[in-house]
Amino acid sequence: MAAASAGTPAARRGEQSDMLRFITCGSVDDGKSTLIGRLLFDAKVIPEDHLAAAPRSDHAGPAADGMPDLAQLIDGLQAEREQGITIDVGYRFFATAQRRFIVADTPGHEQYTRNMATGASTADLAIILVDARKGVLRQTYRHSAIVALMGVRTIVLAVNKMDLVGNAKGRFDEIVAAYGEIADKLGLASVTAIPLSALQGDNVAIASTAMPWYGGPTLLHHLETVSTASATAQPFRFPVQWINRDASGFRGYAGTVLGAGVAAGEEIVVLPSGRRGHVDRIVTWEGDLLRADAGQAVTLTLAEPIDIARGDMIASPQQSPILADQFAAHLVWMDETPMLPGRPYLMQLGTATVGATVSELKHVLDVESGMQKAAKQLVLNDIGFANFSLDRPMPFDAYEENRETGSFILIDRLDNATVGAGMIRFPLRRASNLTWQDFTVDKKARAALKGQRPAVLWFTGLSGAGKSTIADGVERRLHALGRHTYTLDGDNVRHGLNRDLGFTDADRVENIRRVVETARLFADAGLIVLVSFISPFRAERQLARDRVGAEEFLEIFVDTSLAECERRDPKGLYRKARAGQLANFTGIDSAYEPPAHPELHLRTPDHSVEQATDLILDALRRRGIID
Ligand code: ADX
Repeated sequence: MAAASAGTPAARRGEQSDMLRFITCGSVDDGKSTLIGRLLFDAKVIPEDHLAAAPRSDHAGPAADGMPDLAQLIDGLQAEREQGITIDVGYRFFATAQRRFIVADTPGHEQYTRNMATGASTADLAIILVDARKGVLRQTYRHSAIVALMGVRTIVLAVNKMDLVGNAKGRFDEIVAAYGEIADKLGLASVTAIPLSALQGDNVAIASTAMPWYGGPTLLHHLETVSTASATAQPFRFPVQWINRDASGFRGYAGTVLGAGVAAGEEIVVLPSGRRGHVDRIVTWEGDLLRADAGQAVTLTLAEPIDIARGDMIASPQQSPILADQFAAHLVWMDETPMLPGRPYLMQLGTATVGATVSELKHVLDVESGMQKAAKQLVLNDIGFANFSLDRPMPFDAYEENRETGSFILIDRLDNATVGAGMIRFPLRRASNLTWQDFTVDKKARAALKGQRPAVLWFTGLSGAGKSTIADGVERRLHALGRHTYTLDGDNVRHGLNRDLGFTDADRVENIRRVVETARLFADAGLIVLVSFISPFRAERQLARDRVGAEEFLEIFVDTSLAECERRDPKGLYRKARAGQLANFTGIDSAYEPPAHPELHLRTPDHSVEQATDLILDALRRRGIID
């Protein structure tokens, strides 16, 4: 299997092979906290102060006499951490004589999918916990699907509470067979099933006498000995974190080595430029090295003067990363605000940040059944499969090959929050065969012939605010001044180009995305473009500003109160919306996000149409767009 040969994340990060990262999947009802508690207790790694603080168990049965309540102990540790962390994943560190461990402990319920995905993303192994009485449940499939998606290939099926089913082999075999179907479906080839009782301590760290029919390892023994593949299986990758330079002319590239190491003198390739060169020095605080291995933070200098920026990748030229500006990926949505295709996000890919959008949402996974469902958006905890389009070609690997260089996070452009995490599956080559065709007659030439400077005047505001009326006034004045103009108006464009779109958030995003591109083409034709759309969301207006270029863009907020728009109600739509005959109406049951920093803020009816027009013409004069 590709992932297995690619090495475990711990190995790739260069952590010693005596380190195992694992995740436990299950709910408190399944005995998850008890299991972790038991593991720590029997491995004798619980810090003394926690032991003292934990209440004594009153329901643990004879075997647990005098032992603290293991579940409460763990839940107590949990509570300490739960302040102000958005993606709450508890990591617990412990060690035995054989190995060091990091356990990601995440809640098992559906509303915590994002937490489980985060915890699984760095795990080498997952413990899927099943209650022997209940057997394989829908949540068992969901937990397995999430860890499989996150690249975990080594599974322990921990069949807990065996004491409550009379330690019956038959019941255990039944559950193992049922899980086999799930594992097959998800391509999980390495499954070790262990019958245990976390409460009694059977087969957790001590072999059970209650289940003489079981000849396999205890859970702890298995965790101590399960093999993790070697770090060197991965090709060399070095995402450049920052440029190190000083007055003496030293110029080095700092970052952390991933995969196979690198040696001084070795040939490398730099992406995205594709320039080849050689490592000159490997610099560290402790002096130069002859070679650096996975996990080492170093500064590389190159023998050739190659231009490298932060976010570039230095890599093995024999097995170089993929370079593309489009790819297909799974995306775990982590934000309350839905993901909408076409909306601009920032993507952090390795050490680089690039503008990115979902160009097509292929489906949402139903992680309870494995079915793929059609969807127009992703909501919190959804896992979708989508095509992504980046602002520029970026180096990456498929997640199957490399979890570090094959994963990304999406960031909201306005508040910088992490909103999604993605796993790249494959590049889309379609765009790589397209180049931008330059024509001799360009924007400048076209504008010069018209004797003008192109611009985009973006009118935003509620329906009935007066956007189109003011735009009409401005266009008439510009026309009279001999300017070449064109107006794109919501109602009109929706009759043609955008007739397939309605008024859901997803459709509005696509509506504006197309209009942004159209406005851009018209400006490229040398025109002064007036755009009159409600354009209710900040993210898409920001997209307009970015795509057009701030120097040619004027955002004009036609600020008329909802009450006033409703009083005017020129098309009778507010009345309909209030009567419940029109859904998703802006201002009523669909949001309008007012601009924070528009170039012009026109408050109507304080400003008459005449005054508003004058103010806009003044602004155009100040910008040098008209004389
Ligand atoms: S936008 O939100 O996607 O920018 P757009 O400006 O294209 O909207 O279209 C708004 C016009 O569509 C309104 O002026 C109104 O005439 C009409 N309309 C019909 N249904 C709705 C609705 N649910 N919400 C807003 N406008 C609507």
